[in-house]
Amino acid sequence: KKDQLILGIETSCDETAAAVIKNGTDILSNIVASQIESHKRFGGVVPEIASRHHVEQITLVLEEALREANVTYDDLDAIAVTEGPGLVGALLIGVNAAKAVAFAHNIPLVGVHHIAGHIYANRLIKEIEYPALSLVVSGGHTELVLIERPGHFKVIGETRDDAAGEAYDKVARTLHLPYPGGPHIDRLAQEGDPTSVPLPRAWLEDSYDFSFSGLKSAVINTLHNAEQRGETIEPADLAASFQQSVIDVLVKKTVKATQEYDVNQVLLAGGVAANKGLRKALTEAFESITETELIIPPLSLCTDNAAMIGAAGSVLFENGKRSGMAMNGNPGLDI
Ligand code: KG4
Ligand code: ZN
Repeated sequence: KKDQLILGIETSCDETAAAVIKNGTDILSNIVASQIESHKRFGGVVPEIASRHHVEQITLVLEEALREANVTYDDLDAIAVTEGPGLVGALLIGVNAAKAVAFAHNIPLVGVHHIAGHIYANRLIKEIEYPALSLVVSGGHTELVLIERPGHFKVIGETRDDAAGEAYDKVARTLHLPYPGGPHIDRLAQEGDPTSVPLPRAWLEDSYDFSFSGLKSAVINTLHNAEQRGETIEPADLAASFQQSVIDVLVKKTVKATQEYDVNQVLLAGGVAANKGLRKALTEAFESITETELIIPPLSLCTDNAAMIGAAGSVLFENGKRSGMAMNGNPGLDI
């Protein structure tokens, strides 16, 4: 049987990325052009700047992905592209590039939900055994997603306000750390005492929903009050306490959902999945849950990339999904 080759394209935020995936599981190339340096001085992603960078980079990134995989457009079975959610101007660059090459070379096109991509990054590590549960923690999303069969997603809980990554980035900003703040808080937290600063945990009992804005405000108020009293709080202690508060809620709800839905696997997904503290806490929590396998992708597959879009695109393609030339970037796309 001939190998299935899929070109994945991702431009939903501040990474221009393309990858070639073989049989849904093997990475032949995975090119990511990051724009972080351009957005850093603004303390966050500037949509207009993101779009301009995508326009400049997309052709080069596509060519490099094909060259590194040693394939041509004519070898491809499908082109998978992030359709949404994300920044509309950023999404449009990837979607239009995908449409152009799909049309020119007569290749089927498959629109992919960005979060489906983050979830299927795990299939690049290990074959998925259904039903699976995914804890999705990124800059824009925090959700528990049940995947009962390939390509079918059911959100059983989600954040009611800030996403976990968003809370990390805002807390980091308060501590005058560079954007994106998640990795900096993570590093600081390793040196601090997680029990030193009392912070709230939004348990939202009897629900798999999350809330992080109260915690974020508590961190900001704690700093502010200390400043007014002329006291200093060790940034590492504050970072560690904040991180512990986030992790406690994420781990407890994930374990509870694992038991309620009796899943075979738990898949960690999204940029915050790169967090050392979260990876460690989840690993420890699942040591005693032998009937469920925990999969944690390597750091390079946690943050935005196109290999994950190719992996998800492969599953959707096998399911028969085909997107027409009318496909557009959809910033509010539902999973
Ligand atoms: O998935 P992603 O690359 O982009 C979105 O789809 O949002 O996630 C980016 C988010 C940012 O908020 C960033 O601060 C966070 O992931 N992040 C981390 C870590 N690495 C990235 N948060 C906590 N700890 C980390 N090590
Ligand atoms: Zn993402």
